[in-house]
Formats: sequence, structure tokens, C-alpha cells
Amino acid sequence: MSIMTEFTRRDRVFEFLAPTQSPVDVRHGPILYLEDVTVSFDGFKAINNLNLTIDDGELRCIIGPNGAGKTTMMDIITGKTRPDTGSVWFGSRHNLLNMNEPEIATLGIGRKFQKPTVFEALTVFENLELSMAADKRVFPTLTAALTGEHQDRIDEVLDIIGLSDLRERLAGILSHGQKQWLEIGMLLMQKPRLLLVDEPVAGMTEQEMERTAELLTGLAGKQSVVVVEHDMGFVRSIARKVTVLHQGSVLAEGSMDQVSADPDVVKVYLGEDD
Ligand SMILES: Nc1ncnc2c1ncn2[C@@H]1O[C@H](COP(=O)(O)OP(=O)(O)O)[C@@H](O)[C@H]1O
Ligand SMILES: [Mg+2]
Repeated sequence: MSIMTEFTRRDRVFEFLAPTQSPVDVRHGPILYLEDVTVSFDGFKAINNLNLTIDDGELRCIIGPNGAGKTTMMDIITGKTRPDTGSVWFGSRHNLLNMNEPEIATLGIGRKFQKPTVFEALTVFENLELSMAADKRVFPTLTAALTGEHQDRIDEVLDIIGLSDLRERLAGILSHGQKQWLEIGMLLMQKPRLLLVDEPVAGMTEQEMERTAELLTGLAGKQSVVVVEHDMGFVRSIARKVTVLHQGSVLAEGSMDQVSADPDVVKVYLGEDD
């Protein structure tokens, strides 16, 4: 199978390279599907029979105490960690356990780590431009001027992340929150279908948290977003469906009110801190 038919989406850049159908087929189900996934580290089950389903366009919050397996779960989805057993599917066509990390990323799964990793010596605009160029699908454009389509996408993303007025500013002098938004913008340049975001508001001011809530809720619908977060106030402000992880499994799932009222959840998590 050629790289082009496998990885090029119709809405991405070169029409003539594109297959007639998006490679992520969600007509018959969710965008992400984990079934009976188990991972052991030295005999300790960090993930233990985990079942998780994320719908296309959904915004899901994942909470759970330290060591619950949240980061390991993201590592499994992105191909960084291989489960011992279970299945992991992206749409109905992509068995992620048969793919490596770069292949999974190219499929449209973007991951935002906790620490911002923007290029500080470049402007906001250049960071977005570079993240597009780093995308192998648009590699040929490195040698050409930015097309109108690319310019439009950068403008669109600048608007989404609220940094249009700061486009010429060096990323190094942005606030912590602005850097986080820029990094989300860099992921958005590649039009991911699923965005995994690990503790987005750690270290942010109240105002930045509010803006981040708007940003993430605004993304839902256009792509699926999975947010792992410790800050309960923040989770409450953006939550639709919440999954509580505990000891590598789903302890509870539902609205924030439902899971907060769940006695098991209160016992293992909500009563513990916050
Ligand atoms: N590479 C690893 N080697 C050994 N143990 C690990 C490794 N990664 C995670 N763990 C253990 O697995 C459990 C789940 O960790 P993690 O997924 O980081 O939890 P969370 O992100 O919910 O805090 C923890 O007990 C952690 O110590
Ligand atoms: Mg973690």
C-alpha cells in the first residue's frame, strides 16, 4: 500500500494525491476504541482490562488519581507503549497495534504533552508554518512559497488559538498560557482527527484557564479531543462526558455530576485531594 493512499486526507493540500475517501472511517462506530487492554510493567498492571470508546467529535475528560494509568493510556493510543493484550482501533479501519508512532501521528492523532515545546527563537507565525512543513504530506511545499491555502490555514489557526495579533511576536516571549495555545495550534495545523491533551492548564492563570476552556470546547465537533486533567474546577468547566480511571481500569463514566456523586469515585479520588 502506498504512503499516499494510506495517509493523505482529501482535505489536506494536494487534491491529486488524495484518495476519494477519508482514511478514518467512522461511519460504523467511534473514532477510538480500546477493548480489554492490559499493560504490565514488571508484573504490575498499569492498565488492566481497559475499555474506552471515544465518539467522533467528542470532547472527553479523563480524570483519576496519580498512577491511575492516564499517561500510559495515551502512550498506548499513540504507539509509544505496546499493550500485552487487547485491541486498539482508530475508526473501523485502522488497527493501531499494527502501526508505529509516526504512522499513528500521520493518521491524524495529535498529542500535546504537558510542557510546551515551541521554537522560542521563531515567531508565532513561523512556528505554525514550520509545523506544517514538518508534516511529511506537505513536504514538497518546503521548496515552494506558501500557497494561499496554507496561508488561510495559518490565519484560521491563529484565530482559533487567539494569537492573531501576536503572529509576529517571538514565541520565546509569550506567556506560559500563550505558548500552550501555540503548541495546540501547531498540532491543529495538521488537521488532526483526534487530539490528546495532557494537563493543559497546569501552571496557567485563571484567565488563561478560561481561554483554554473556550479553545478546547470550540475544537470539539471539528475533531475529537481527549483531555487528561487534574484541575477539577477546569474539568467541571469543560466537561461533557467524564471517564474516571483507577488502577488501570474505568471506575466510572458519565457527566461530571454523575461521577462526582459516585461513592467509589469519592472514595478513591475526589475525597483524596482538590
Ligand atoms: N515505563 C514504566 N515502567 C514501570 N512502571 C511504569 C511505567 N510507566 C508507568 N508506570 C507505572 O504505571 C502506573 C500508571 O502510571 P501513569 O500512566 O503514569 O499514571 P497517571 O498518568 O494516571 O498518573 C504507575 O504506577 C506508574 O508508576
Ligand atoms: Mg500522568
